[in-house]
Amino acid sequence: MLDITKVNIEKAAKIIKSAKHVTAFTGAGISVESGIPPFRGDGGIWGKYDPKILDLPYFLANPLDSWIVIKEIFYEFFGKAKPNNAHKMLAEMESLGWLKAIITQNIDNLHQEAGSKNVIEFHGNSKILVCTNCGNKELINKINLGKLPPKCEKCKSLLKPDFIFFGEGIPQNAYQQSQSEVKNADVFILVGTSGSVIPASYLPFEAKKNGATIIEINPEKTNYTDEITDVFIRAKAGEISQQFIEALNTKNND
Ligand code: APR
Ligand code: ZN
Repeated sequence: MLDITKVNIEKAAKIIKSAKHVTAFTGAGISVESGIPPFRGDGGIWGKYDPKILDLPYFLANPLDSWIVIKEIFYEFFGKAKPNNAHKMLAEMESLGWLKAIITQNIDNLHQEAGSKNVIEFHGNSKILVCTNCGNKELINKINLGKLPPKCEKCKSLLKPDFIFFGEGIPQNAYQQSQSEVKNADVFILVGTSGSVIPASYLPFEAKKNGATIIEINPEKTNYTDEITDVFIRAKAGEISQQFIEALNTKNND
């Protein structure tokens, strides 16, 4: 029987090996196999919690209410997650010279924990807290979440997770670095993103416009699949990562 996933993995490996600049673009789906649920779809976070807790005006007006839920979702529940094989695959690809950068929409720090070096965090990082008054940043593991809401050591004002809340702009550095990836990449690998949150979701379309070949790994079709995807590997990312690395390590994919 023709194994279409295998065929597509080999096709993707061949494209990556002859590329000059490969960039990965990841979303919540890459962390699902680490035990972090996605935002939308089956078992999604916004099916269980009210997204208003991450609305900036609501947070500033009701810091305790928001922090109780933020602590539960991002620090008690997600805090224990470890990188899975898909995070490790991207880290290995970078160390072997096949991948230049990862642009991630995730705030879970799992790419860095897997060993990836060049990680562009489009939505920030949950492991850092930022003061809403003086901008001072503190690491979450130095903060006592026993007493909510947490306060800045320097000015005693409210601390907020250093990821963007609804209505906030993209961190400037991350935005600029992503634009440079979009310009330079000749291959974009999309892993576990539905492509439904702007402006992040535009990046693959812009890369495609600039001539990049689009490889997509997702168990479901997304906003990209029928529009711009060149090679669609319909699978859970963690389940094919070993096979993906093997295909890259094989001398000839003909
Ligand atoms: N491997 C690969 N993809 C998977 C897996 C898996 N094991 N499991 C699920 N997926 C796919 C789903 O099919 C879906 O297409 O991951 C995608 C997750 O989509 P979303 O939950 O919409 O996540 P994402 O695209 O990252 O959302 C973007 O939304 O709420 C905001 O800021 C938040 O960064 C987040 C943004
Ligand atoms: Zn402060």
